[in-house]
Amino acid sequence: MISENAPLSSLDVWEDDLLSRYPEPEHKSKEEYRNYDSPERDTVREFYRLNHTYQTYDFVLEKEREFLKFDKKELPVWGIAEFLNTLVDDSDPDTDLDQLQHLLQTSEAIRADGHPDWFVLTGFLHDMGKVLCLFGEPQWAVVGDTFPVGCAHSDKIVYPEYFANNPDSRDERYNTKYGVYEPNCGLRNVHMSWGHDEYLYQIMKDYMPEPALYMMRYHSFYSQHREEAYTHLMDEHDHEMFKWVRKFNPYDLYSKSPKPPVVSELKPYYEELIAKYLPNTLRL
Ligand SMILES: [Fe+2]
Ligand SMILES: [Fe+2]
Repeated sequence: MISENAPLSSLDVWEDDLLSRYPEPEHKSKEEYRNYDSPERDTVREFYRLNHTYQTYDFVLEKEREFLKFDKKELPVWGIAEFLNTLVDDSDPDTDLDQLQHLLQTSEAIRADGHPDWFVLTGFLHDMGKVLCLFGEPQWAVVGDTFPVGCAHSDKIVYPEYFANNPDSRDERYNTKYGVYEPNCGLRNVHMSWGHDEYLYQIMKDYMPEPALYMMRYHSFYSQHREEAYTHLMDEHDHEMFKWVRKFNPYDLYSKSPKPPVVSELKPYYEELIAKYLPNTLRL
């Protein structure tokens, strides 16, 4: 039975679906991944129905007030990764990879390409905001493509038809091209739908270099970094920084390797990297 909080059997189902929408360029046959009749596909559709229905401007402001107090927990960074790994999906006991594996595969692929250490660290951190699930948040307020709230929903967002259920789409304050924003006001002035991207950005914003912060904050903003649907809200600085967001994306989507990284071998390197950039503990 599909639950409102958790229609997906696991958070990975959303990411598998991303792969079907944005297959690796070398894998020319999109059909390889696509299976529109699968029951899994139906859970993704249901997931987006909920996400597009409930992610309103007011909902986002309320979640920002609730979570940006950071009064939930205080942990060392490696501890956040381990905490995230307690996210088990009872409905799907054999999810292929746990969360820590996804983080390490992403960061190791970045490291193998010789990128700067803060880029590697960003790969390791990028999904830690998913701890929101462990605070009881519904899947549709943790993962999924993100999009600006407070202005018109682009039809370039996946399953745009479900925005018809969103009260903002009938509210004239929010349903025009610019809504509550000014042309090219810069994304820093734009509220994004609530989820793991924005939450992690807010946790990290005092510690990581600017390109890293953009990668964390906008990695699920597919309607911009892949579809360029919100260029009218971006300023010059955003355009510069989105080069990094686009550089990061393939590592997130295409770094699943058949040979899982050995956590114990990698831990010392990552502990050192964490210590270089981040404080001993972080408040969630
Ligand atoms: Fe993510
Ligand atoms: Fe990811």
